Amino acid sequence: MRKDKYLFITFEGIEGSGKSYQGKKLYRNLKKRKIPVIFTREPGGSTSAEKIRKLILTGSKNKFTKTTDTLLYLAARNEHIQKTLKPAISRKKNIICDRFIDSTMAYQVYGKSVNKSLVNTVHKHILETIKPNLTVLLKVNIKKAFQRIKNRKFKNRYDKFDRDFYQKVQNAFIKIAKKNKKRYFIIDNSIDSNETEKIILKKIIRTLSK
Ligand code: TMP
Repeated sequence: MRKDKYLFITFEGIEGSGKSYQGKKLYRNLKKRKIPVIFTREPGGSTSAEKIRKLILTGSKNKFTKTTDTLLYLAARNEHIQKTLKPAISRKKNIICDRFIDSTMAYQVYGKSVNKSLVNTVHKHILETIKPNLTVLLKVNIKKAFQRIKNRKFKNRYDKFDRDFYQKVQNAFIKIAKKNKKRYFIIDNSIDSNETEKIILKKIIRTLSK
């Protein structure tokens, strides 16, 4: 393992794809190996961004317009970058982040037809040089994803869309991934198995050793 290599790893996928579960598994697996790492998420990941998360995800489906939603996701991202990501990078930590920029592209731009240049302009401003080194995209059979969502105790505003919307968002993630093959690692996680956890860990350890 190289001691001077740190990765910013993001996990992406639709609800019920198992990305939060797998992200946390990877975090524990790296910790066990004494690799410096933090686990964080979007929207959220800092005290202030978690407040914005609560505002976005609670309440009725049509609480905000799609542009307001987008601006709130981006506002939360800016807080997260300033308060959590930048300090972690300067402390030389690996970062595992449950969702990041690709979620905004897939959900808001492709899923809800929000203006792409609005998102790109704000991103240019708030990201500066911050960019994921590796993105794990968990693909899932939509029927399976719905079974997993159904078992959730708390459903948020974004857990309430129909199958067509999730299919559209998943297709968008795959499209983004195919344009950016070097950064993306796509895995089908439709079957509950420990295999996904092993495959991801192997990939990350290999990348950290290169
Ligand atoms: P989570 O359930 O994975 O924590 O994500 C919360 C919801 O927020 C999920 O439905 C996806 C949505 N989301 C967006 O629509 N755009 C974004 O930029 C982000 C980060 C999340």
